[in-house]
Amino acid sequence: MRMRRKPNLMPRLANCSEYIIPAADAHCGAWLEVFSDCNELRAELGCGKGRFLSETARANPRVLFIGIERVADAAVVAAERARDAGLRNVRFIIDDVACLPTVFAPRELSVIYINFCDPWQGKKRAKRRLTSDGYLALYKNALSPNGEIRFKTDNTELFDFSLERFDALGFTTGVVTRDLHRAGGDDDDTISPADTRLGEMRAVMTDYEEKFYSQGVRICACTAAPPRE
Ligand SMILES: C[S@@+](CC[C@H](N)C(=O)[O-])C[C@H]1O[C@@H](n2cnc3c(N)ncnc32)[C@H](O)[C@@H]1O
Repeated sequence: MRMRRKPNLMPRLANCSEYIIPAADAHCGAWLEVFSDCNELRAELGCGKGRFLSETARANPRVLFIGIERVADAAVVAAERARDAGLRNVRFIIDDVACLPTVFAPRELSVIYINFCDPWQGKKRAKRRLTSDGYLALYKNALSPNGEIRFKTDNTELFDFSLERFDALGFTTGVVTRDLHRAGGDDDDTISPADTRLGEMRAVMTDYEEKFYSQGVRICACTAAPPRE
């Protein structure tokens, strides 16, 4: 995501410092001990300006949501949103997703959200995609045995690539749709409208999703559970 440099970034970060965890590795394996009102831990990778995370957190007050975003200019907007909404169950880490093994213990996460990650065109840059093998190996380790990835994108090539990589690394896909906001409707029998995960995935749009959806772009989505070992 290319963003203009936000003016007053440092004072703005200071004003929502409660929402940004500077030394997140100190919480590794103990997130739910520190946030004792919560009984489940989920993370969104590349959360951008955090609309999805704040709205999902508001609907699930007993779940602790951690947003990981490497661009401080985006993360500060996300933290301000959470602070302004008075949310107690959202925190942010300003870092690369590669930090995952140092901030979450094996099997600590129940859900990993990946929403509209950068598609990184071309073979040479494919390993930077958040659904490429190196990252999937990290998710496999961090997810609980009943956990799952919930993935949304507007990019059909990235979606095809991701489905292929999930399969190659032994993940089991559950809900798979190439038109999330119409899936399960009268003209679609691939997914039951009663599937709660589908309902949850479309209930809250991300900032990017809202933009694409308003342009008539179809949104692809799927869930992927790690291999049981
Ligand atoms: C296209 S934006 C989507 C933002 C948001 N998820 C949404 O749907 O509105 C992708 C975001 O992922 C972040 N990002 C990309 N690669 C990342 C990485 N390896 N670690 C952390 N953040 C990353 C970018 O900085 C950007 O904010």
